[in-house]
Amino acid sequence: MCGIIGIVGNSSVQERLIDSLKRLEYRGYDSAGVAGMVDGKLQRRRAKGKIRALEDVLADAPLNATVGIGHTRWATHGAPSEANAHPHKSGRVSLVHNGIIENFAELKRELEAQGRVFESQTDTEVIAQLLDSELDKGLEPLAALKATLDRLTGAYALAVLIEGEDELVMGARRGSPLVVGYGEGEMFIGSDALAVGPFTNKIAYLEEGDYVAIDHATARIFDETGKAVERKTQVVSASAALVEKGNYRHFMEKEIHDQPEGCQRTIAAYVDALSDTTTIPGDIDFTKLDRIQIVACGTAYIAGLLGKYMIEQLAGLPVDVEIASEFRYRNPAISAQSLAIAISQSGETADTLAALRHCKAAGMKSAALVNAVQSTIAREADVVWPIHCGPEIGVASTKAFTAQVSLLTTLAVAAARARGRIDAAEENRLVRVLLEAPRLMAESINLEEAVRNIALEVSKARDVLYLGRGPMYPLALEGALKLKEISYIHAEGYAAGELKHGPIALVDEATPIVILAPFDSYFEKSASNMSEVMARGGQVIFITDPDGARHAPAGAKVVVTAPKCDPLIAPLVMSAPIQLLAYYVAVQKGADVDQPRNLAKSVTVE
Ligand code: F6R
Repeated sequence: MCGIIGIVGNSSVQERLIDSLKRLEYRGYDSAGVAGMVDGKLQRRRAKGKIRALEDVLADAPLNATVGIGHTRWATHGAPSEANAHPHKSGRVSLVHNGIIENFAELKRELEAQGRVFESQTDTEVIAQLLDSELDKGLEPLAALKATLDRLTGAYALAVLIEGEDELVMGARRGSPLVVGYGEGEMFIGSDALAVGPFTNKIAYLEEGDYVAIDHATARIFDETGKAVERKTQVVSASAALVEKGNYRHFMEKEIHDQPEGCQRTIAAYVDALSDTTTIPGDIDFTKLDRIQIVACGTAYIAGLLGKYMIEQLAGLPVDVEIASEFRYRNPAISAQSLAIAISQSGETADTLAALRHCKAAGMKSAALVNAVQSTIAREADVVWPIHCGPEIGVASTKAFTAQVSLLTTLAVAAARARGRIDAAEENRLVRVLLEAPRLMAESINLEEAVRNIALEVSKARDVLYLGRGPMYPLALEGALKLKEISYIHAEGYAAGELKHGPIALVDEATPIVILAPFDSYFEKSASNMSEVMARGGQVIFITDPDGARHAPAGAKVVVTAPKCDPLIAPLVMSAPIQLLAYYVAVQKGADVDQPRNLAKSVTVE
């Protein structure tokens, strides 16, 4: 996770770049840098460490520029060092980047074959080199940027300077956010409203695939096809910028869309993308553990269930997952050789905290898998494993859930490797699969329109059943929980194999049945369950992948086709359709999506 800023100003931009980077420091702080146009030439200053170190560099060598860009970094590719710090430079180009370029190795090989020499280990430098090579072909800056973006796979928000273009900063976004700030004869781009907050409160949120050119007075915005577009401007309060809804109607909708970035940041924090290995802090010896005990509530508990499926499957390490309010009072059998993991978005849930204390008192080592790193659960656990999805405001948890699942999946890979259940090559493969997840999740969010079309029908139902097998079973529980908490429709998640043991009695023409079934080893069984409910008049909403859609029995009311992916990341990729379904049903019913009745974001009483 990195923070970026770009300014076309009327006066020196150095102080404003630094001010903005300090506001963005929550996004990462292992190196920082700025670049500017000085007498028509690009100059840059960079430093390892926090912004303070960059300020020291600038005190010795000020950057006397009125047009500039800046970056604060959270390392993904390449260690935190000055050489890997942004801005990166190649020929006429200097740029800053937030995100991960998945095909950087392939592009780098291609550029090196053309004789280009790289000075860093970052994926970002590939973008600078590629853009410079497009300029060398004689393309204008915007055309060169478009040609470059067309070659990139992965996630990015960019701010770009071109030597010889004294009044131009270009930007682009895909998978990582970017806003445009409109000032008085000055223009800005930045990672979020907070970045440009001190300079202007009039901003526009760019949409997926957009790119932009700003000068003193205007922003020319283009969509991914190169068509000039308008993006709505809005006035935001800078102090509230951290909790802005952007272009979205509700925080929940925004947070569903935030998920690829949240997962990307979370995964990046626990893998080394250069060596494709996992790095789990906390000195946990997975070979010495007899068990993992997960305690959590609500959606965090469901994330824990998914963790159990992953960890037991990959690492062969037993995992117990228990609802914290049950665990704390029932005198569970505890072993001091087990590791306790408390999962909590807020880090303040009273039952989860009590369960964690119970584990600690029994002599277990403990880890806190939290979003709020200053929280009580984080403070009391021996090890803190933060998720990095940013503040979650909507009461119904979405982006914290997928970030928790990302982290638990990474943990499963690490434990499997440590316990010798997979070799180094398989670890490398699984890490690469994990790194693909954000892109595929973004594709899955694109199913929004298809899901919205089902919402009217589902909003009329009294009961909805969710069925799944394997990891799709916890996801069925999550789908049902999301629907009931925000739309107030009664919903149940079931292991599909349980259908004949009771819930099939609920099936009639008025009951929508959501079946989650990618084309995996469970598919045939799930398809049989689908036939069974359709034979009894059930209205099936079948959420699957392209192969599953081809092999599904005919007769589903709706088939929603998520992108094909490795089974490791299927729970991440399949999450958006069920979240969006709950969201649009609630909107259809006119419910208070972000603050459903009777609920609170943080349950600090039992
Ligand atoms: C459901 C939801 C809740 C929380 C639960 C635990 O959408 O948000 O079920 O997951 O209250 O909260 P945390 O994770 O803060 O401990």
